[in-house]
Amino acid sequence: MSEVVANVARKAFASAANYEKVRSNYPVEAVEFLLQKLGVTDNEASNTTGNRPFTILELGSGTGKFTRVMVKLLTGKKVKVIASEPLQSMCQQFKLMVPETEIIQCAAEKIPLPDASVDVVIALQSFHWFTNRSALEEIHRVLVPNGSFGLMWSLLDVSIPWEKDLFNFLRILHEGNSLVFPHFENWKEVFSLLSQHLFSTPEECISFENCLQASSFDQAYKHFASYSIIAGGSESDKKAFQELFNELMEKHFKEKGIFFEGIRFKLYMYWCHKEI
Ligand SMILES: C[S@@+](CC[C@H](N)C(=O)[O-])C[C@H]1O[C@@H](n2cnc3c(N)ncnc32)[C@H](O)[C@@H]1O
Repeated sequence: MSEVVANVARKAFASAANYEKVRSNYPVEAVEFLLQKLGVTDNEASNTTGNRPFTILELGSGTGKFTRVMVKLLTGKKVKVIASEPLQSMCQQFKLMVPETEIIQCAAEKIPLPDASVDVVIALQSFHWFTNRSALEEIHRVLVPNGSFGLMWSLLDVSIPWEKDLFNFLRILHEGNSLVFPHFENWKEVFSLLSQHLFSTPEECISFENCLQASSFDQAYKHFASYSIIAGGSESDKKAFQELFNELMEKHFKEKGIFFEGIRFKLYMYWCHKEI
């Protein structure tokens, strides 16, 4: 197990089977869009790697929710996918879910791959755990010249009032625990901590959406309870979250007789290139 993984993440992701069950999947169109922005589906890019296949390294793969969609989309293409994940529980669940893909157990801060051996690095719903100089320098080291780095987060849709209320609660918990809250894009600050301008300025797309269909409040509650800040947090934070969730379900659905259909997300995608 990696030394650099935050305690809250270790605690939150200890049950990989639960993560697999309650977290949302990635929509194919969004995965396809990001791969295209990273030059993966571009045949020219795939042909410029000489003797080795065009290679994608995924960091913090978890149970392989993104990996399985990507691997399916890349069927028949000469592209090699290497997944990586620091936690053993996640690696084991990954092997059950995506047995056809290689996974290495490592943190983003210490990648056991040679210099300039990877064409694309991706981090899905995970970069907030390693927004530090060491990880970014490692990503830069393993990338080929002009290689691409892609990111995605699936975040609450704050245009929906009850999701906005949950968002505010989660924001305060993140701030209180000094954890990076991806909604605020403060993860971008790490790029300016580098001594040199190693990457191009990230471009972005926030027009894709996703939905976790949930026919019961309990199903939705279990989803939120798996968020690292709750699952890895204190008993009092868990209790406060449960009370808020119950209150919001009462106010926005039960009292109004509105049928609960699920949780809506916006997909935040970013991509940049290795410059030096
Ligand atoms: C919210 S999960 C996302 C998993 C998967 N990418 C997905 O989209 O479902 C965050 C993942 O980041 C991993 N992680 C935490 N610290 C990390 C680090 N320092 N380096 C690489 N991955 C890390 C966690 O173990 C966890 O599997």
